[in-house]
Amino acid sequence: MDNGRHPSKRVSLAGMHIDRTSAVPLHLQIAKHIRDGILSGAFPSGTQFLGSREIARELGCSRTVVLTAWDLLYAEGYLASTPRGSVMVAAVTAPHAEPASPAGKPAHMSERWRALLGLDYETNWPSVFAPGAPDISTFPFKDWSRLLRQAWQNPREQECLDLPPEGHPRLRSEIANFLGSVRGLVCSPDEVVVTSGTSGALDFCSRMILDPGDEVWVEEPGFIEARWALTAAGARLVPVPVDDKGLVVSEGIRRAPRARLIVVTPSHQYPLGVSMGLERRLELLDYANKNDIWLIEDDYNSEFRHQDSMIASLRSLDRDGRVIYFGTFSKIMMPNLRLGYLVANRHFIEGFAKGRARIDVHTSGIGQLALAEFMREGHLLRHLRAMRRVYAARRKALIDAIQTQMPGDLTVSSAVTGLHLVALFTEAMQARMTDREAVAILKQAGIQVQPLSQNFLARPTRQGLVFGYGRLRVEDAAPLLARIAACIGSASHSAPSEPPDARSY
Ligand SMILES: Cc1ncc(COP(=O)(O)O)c(C=O)c1O
Repeated sequence: MDNGRHPSKRVSLAGMHIDRTSAVPLHLQIAKHIRDGILSGAFPSGTQFLGSREIARELGCSRTVVLTAWDLLYAEGYLASTPRGSVMVAAVTAPHAEPASPAGKPAHMSERWRALLGLDYETNWPSVFAPGAPDISTFPFKDWSRLLRQAWQNPREQECLDLPPEGHPRLRSEIANFLGSVRGLVCSPDEVVVTSGTSGALDFCSRMILDPGDEVWVEEPGFIEARWALTAAGARLVPVPVDDKGLVVSEGIRRAPRARLIVVTPSHQYPLGVSMGLERRLELLDYANKNDIWLIEDDYNSEFRHQDSMIASLRSLDRDGRVIYFGTFSKIMMPNLRLGYLVANRHFIEGFAKGRARIDVHTSGIGQLALAEFMREGHLLRHLRAMRRVYAARRKALIDAIQTQMPGDLTVSSAVTGLHLVALFTEAMQARMTDREAVAILKQAGIQVQPLSQNFLARPTRQGLVFGYGRLRVEDAAPLLARIAACIGSASHSAPSEPPDARSY
């Protein structure tokens, strides 16, 4: 074993630091010290250690501790015995002594991973103005926990061992009923797939539908998290502007006529809140059909329509089965459930389910079972009805406060649905500061709001503030807006204005 490279002198552990206050047992500390030394090259193979008695004396521990460490390292293959019975380092091929990256970062990052991390944004979750954050203070947790317990107490063997990738049949059926009564979307349970929320659905759909480099139309401004999933799938994002009738289809055609997928929020465009007009919807469907493009309809928040009648979903206008409809329980219940659903034609679902079964198998089963019962017993609809009243009052209070406190600075964009609104900067306000500057000023005062401009992929064409109101108490709206007006008012006398943010990706 001695190839001349290894010292014949037996090595002592006298310099090793033993931490007697640590919860880590001594034998594990010794084993770690030796393992680290071997992997870093400090103890090359063939290195022989002093006898266990001497080491125990050096370290001030019992010999049993040293022998236990040796046993562990023998079992792991780090140590071997010399013909004369001494302990030596086995023929382990140690990696390079220097770590590949000193900061401990992974050595290789794919382009997609880098691109994903580059799509950064200012989050204010779950502060009072966080867009889309629901109020859970009146959520029927008692019923929910009873149903969770019940699901665990009497599970059917089948449910514990095997669940289809499309989701629990009872939940799929409850979702189909729910969509018919709340959304006017007629579908059968076998057109429904239970997902891990909209983000999970987008992740899977983009992996199934797209090849790296495929073009995808995304709304501009748009939902940043949708861009994350698409970017992770290697898509090339094509920002398509939104006007007061929604996504400008003609502009999408001009920018990327060969797109493979279009992602839209037609009922309540995120973040601007506009509803896509019928003519636009038909134009979009027609173009998608003629060019074999998939359409994802993210129908988030349509359960909270505060005024005007409900608009038919894109999916219900779709005769060719190319719309994949997404819904989520993140707003009507809570985001940490990670439960949502998609509705699509059976043909798509069959392929999707087979693909999914090979990746993450299915969404966690136990929550699905509890949710199916929660819906069947009527708790979800009751909670939804109560929250509609709460959110409508909060929305009104916020709009009144903006209009009273900052009439010359902000104008409320369309806000008929959902849990957030956009307050666009007036020309006068835009001349004084950018939305990012306003957000920075407010942050210093402890108020967290999101800048509209960060929802643009290319150069922002509008400036404004995105206000969530799901967690805003009615009585707090006016005082908070008064504070915002005061902060912005006093800062704009001193802050020099800069041109709008000019990021481009
Ligand atoms: C536009 C949009 N779609 C969907 C969602 C819900 O996403 P998830 O179901 O992944 O929580 C949100 C949440 O903020 C959203 O803003």
